[in-house]
Amino acid sequence: MARNILDKVIVLWICLVNFTVSVPPDSSIYYGQFPEDFIWGIGTSSYRIEGAWNKDDSCLQKLDPNLNDETGYDPFVVSLLKHYRFSISWSRVLSNGTLATRNEKGIQYYKNLISELLKNGIKPLVTLYHWDLPQALQDVGGWESDKMIDYFSDYARLMFDELGEKVKFWITFNEPWISAYHGYGTGTSAPGIKDKGHKPYTTGHVIIKAHVKAYRLYKREYSHQNGVVGIVLNSGWKEPKTQSQSDKDAAERAIQFMLGWFANPIFGNGDYPEVMKQQIADKSRKMGIPNRLPEFTEQEKHDNIGSSDFFGINTFTTNLVTYKENSESTTPSFDDDQDIRMFRDPSWKRAKSGWLSVVPWGMRKILNFIKDNYRNPLTYVTANGVSDCGQLDDQFRIEYFKTYINEVLKAIKIDQCNVKGYMAWSLMDSFEWEKGYVPKFGLAKVDFEKNERTRTLKASAHFYADLVKQNGFTKSSFNMYTYIKEDLEERDMFYKGLFPPNFAWGAATSAYQIEGGWNEDGKGPSIWDDYSHEWKITKNQTGDIACDSYHRYKEDVQMLKKLGVSHYRFSIAWSRIMADGTLNSLNKKGIDYYNNLINELLAYNIQPMVTLYHWDLPSALQKTDGWKDPEIVDKFAKYAEVCFVNFGDRVKFWITINEPFVVSWLGHGIGIMAPGVKEPAIGVYNVTHNIIKSHVKVYHLYNEKFRSRQHGKVGITLDCDWKEPLTYDAMDRYSAERSLKFKLGWFADPIFGQGDYPAVMKRFVARKSEQQGYSNSRLPEFTDEEKKQNKGAADFLGLNHYTTNLVGYKNRDNENSSYEADQDTVLSFDPCWNKSESDWLRVNPWGIRKLLKWIKNRYRSPVIYVTENGVSDDGQMDDVSRQRYYTKYINEILKSIKLDNVDVRGYMAWSLMDNFEWGSGFTQKFGLYHVDFDIDSRPRTPKASTVTYSKIIKDNGFH
Ligand SMILES: *[C@@H]1O[C@H](CO)[C@@H](O)[C@H](O)[C@H]1NC(C)=O
Ligand SMILES: *[C@@H]1O[C@H](CO)[C@@H](O)[C@H](O)[C@H]1NC(C)=O
Ligand SMILES: *[C@@H]1O[C@H](CO)[C@@H](O)[C@H](O)[C@H]1NC(C)=O
Ligand SMILES: *[C@@H]1O[C@H](CO)[C@@H](O)[C@H](O)[C@H]1NC(C)=O
Repeated sequence: MARNILDKVIVLWICLVNFTVSVPPDSSIYYGQFPEDFIWGIGTSSYRIEGAWNKDDSCLQKLDPNLNDETGYDPFVVSLLKHYRFSISWSRVLSNGTLATRNEKGIQYYKNLISELLKNGIKPLVTLYHWDLPQALQDVGGWESDKMIDYFSDYARLMFDELGEKVKFWITFNEPWISAYHGYGTGTSAPGIKDKGHKPYTTGHVIIKAHVKAYRLYKREYSHQNGVVGIVLNSGWKEPKTQSQSDKDAAERAIQFMLGWFANPIFGNGDYPEVMKQQIADKSRKMGIPNRLPEFTEQEKHDNIGSSDFFGINTFTTNLVTYKENSESTTPSFDDDQDIRMFRDPSWKRAKSGWLSVVPWGMRKILNFIKDNYRNPLTYVTANGVSDCGQLDDQFRIEYFKTYINEVLKAIKIDQCNVKGYMAWSLMDSFEWEKGYVPKFGLAKVDFEKNERTRTLKASAHFYADLVKQNGFTKSSFNMYTYIKEDLEERDMFYKGLFPPNFAWGAATSAYQIEGGWNEDGKGPSIWDDYSHEWKITKNQTGDIACDSYHRYKEDVQMLKKLGVSHYRFSIAWSRIMADGTLNSLNKKGIDYYNNLINELLAYNIQPMVTLYHWDLPSALQKTDGWKDPEIVDKFAKYAEVCFVNFGDRVKFWITINEPFVVSWLGHGIGIMAPGVKEPAIGVYNVTHNIIKSHVKVYHLYNEKFRSRQHGKVGITLDCDWKEPLTYDAMDRYSAERSLKFKLGWFADPIFGQGDYPAVMKRFVARKSEQQGYSNSRLPEFTDEEKKQNKGAADFLGLNHYTTNLVGYKNRDNENSSYEADQDTVLSFDPCWNKSESDWLRVNPWGIRKLLKWIKNRYRSPVIYVTENGVSDDGQMDDVSRQRYYTKYINEILKSIKLDNVDVRGYMAWSLMDNFEWGSGFTQKFGLYHVDFDIDSRPRTPKASTVTYSKIIKDNGFH
């Protein structure tokens, strides 16, 4: 809700400008200090935090866990919070808005809040009215009724009585323009009344009178409390679109209708701006209706003048204004009354909120307008900030604050504007979490998906704290931030260049996902046949037919030929060539199928890259515990030997096992993949142990019996996401590193490293196992002989990579033992990464470059093939997101090769065509080619991404 209101606040800046100021938009940074009595703060509005205050998760305490710990006080955070602006909910203290319904609990709540703030050295800045009128008062007319003036005054008196001893800074109304124009004009804000021609003016009139009465009340009866009382107005800057007189006049009208409407009575001559009176009177006369702008009596004007101790201004953006006569319309409207049109310069940077463009010099101009038009009043910038999609490393927000606050400094130092305070908007991201791209204004991120509502300071919070600490801008103070920014620019640039000659370009599939023919020609069932036949897949789908490649492999080869690839990565279904997984059931027809496929590929000069195991274990072997059974090592070697004997004369690329992590953790840990075993503490480690031994045995088998004749390469394909630290915090950085070692290192360290599991993994699992009362570590050990065999047992590392995770530290000692709890990490996504059709897959191209570099450094520059990479959508032919994904990810790989010297030799796009996406069935589409699964012949059609990918292949990079 709060976000919507804020968004609405916006749509409406209509106002302003005085051209006598005429400051040239100078974007250079002005170095200097703010006045010593300048106050720095940070804003939120009440509903964002209320209800939480007395509980353990109060925002301030969460924002800084040390806030109550005198020894560990964080001076940065406290300086951020020296002033805290919040609003009181009228109906919380007076249930129906009148003194007859005084609510002691509500009053007590605010007393507690204020005491808590003061105890922590934070001064409260209290807003009486932030748009939430008690419903009972709305029922008797709301701001359309003069009665509100007395009700508001009664409410103000109660607050001065109850809280005035401690509160020295009062704001009567926050942004009355929103209440009047949006509440009663457009109806996009509560109470949602739509009457643009009349009610904004009548309600605005009542609000001004209510403000003045409350102000005079304080001055008359509460001046001994020594506080200040003022009002907060909102307006963006209004810049004439051209220097023509008519545009200048139009811009002047725009700011007078927005800021001047309320500012002129209170800070000016006591009355509405002349231009506003004239325009409304003219328009009314032309329509033959009575004047719609109410009038103040002479007494009222007199009382209006000077009825605020300071000028509070909320400002975020700027509009260009041009003259446009509105003579046609027959219904009166606040908008038409102004004879203007508003624009934005297309070169202005846009924030995540559609209404907000970044125009720093607009800040200086509006402060000068206030100075020149209202006799240089004491001014506070009460809200200023920018929205993005919510990333922690919010360089965009830092840039906004840096430039906007610097314009405030210029207004003070160069123009002598009497500005004495600045409140950054906002303390934290808005409460109402929605998935996707919700504009976020916070200096702190709040994780609404977790019960603890964890708060994390963003980079901008640290920047703001530094600025506050220095009370200004010194030449040296921004080096660090500039450095980060340049770093990111290098990270995000697009690199033009070519891949090495003979780089392998290909596309990938796997047997169960495309073949179908699940029980044809002597094929035995696999664990995936069983798993899908137990209806464990979305919509009860199965791979019984899939893309029917068992019958249509020639079409597949034609597709590959059209793409222009040099390689095709596919897998052999173990139970198609050995029905029960052993030599007893060798199936000639199955072997023929793969021979035909291989020969067809070679006929078109496409090299086969063959995966022996892509998750489809023969069912017969699962009966004896499959991968948990140490005997699997010999069984797998026998199967591999059959493949080398039958296909090795033509196949020169062998991948033993695809993504063993999925077999271990998803298949045997949490059981969301076949065979659906749930043994997250021990079984999962045993399975990996057997998989590594199986791979190593096959590698040595090839060396001993086949390599000298067949001259092929044998490797393994591992899957890994990039793990980016959640924050710059050391604990998070260690956690991200640990996460890489638990995921990739678990398999890669034995084979590509020292022959053994990563040290940190051995240490963590051993420590947790001991705590949990196991007599041995749950992580098995390799013998010295095995380590020797493991080490170096691969000719290349196949990498499947799709996405990035953010990794934070979390102590998980109290959880049930599992591979995940063993790591003491917690994973999340940056909200700025684009989504795909798969909830585990978010798009973050630079992740692959960081991962490749990590692999290079840790494993002494192994030969790498990217054996899978791609993105899912819901199947559209114009697959824009896939085109962009391939372009960006492949470009990052090129950067790895050219800039980081990583030895990447090939790239296999996942996937050649839409297919059976495991547990998600046919609901997530990864294909370069579309497959129509509703038609028996499974027709294949190229999507737009085939053009993109073919061009990259043909060019061998990016010209
Ligand atoms: C508020 O409540 C009092 C006491 O119940 C009642 O007398 C009064 O009419 C109410 N006022 C409004 C505006 O609803
Ligand atoms: C899937 O099949 C099972 C067994 O026949 C049945 O109970 C279930 O309702 C089916 N679910 C769907 C979504 O069709
Ligand atoms: C794991 O392997 C160890 C050593 O071979 C064995 O003692 C244990 O029973 C196995 N446990 C599971 C759950 O597979
Ligand atoms: C932890 O294990 C216990 C005993 O096996 C089980 O009852 C409980 O549900 C498990 N808790 C979680 C969070 O999995």
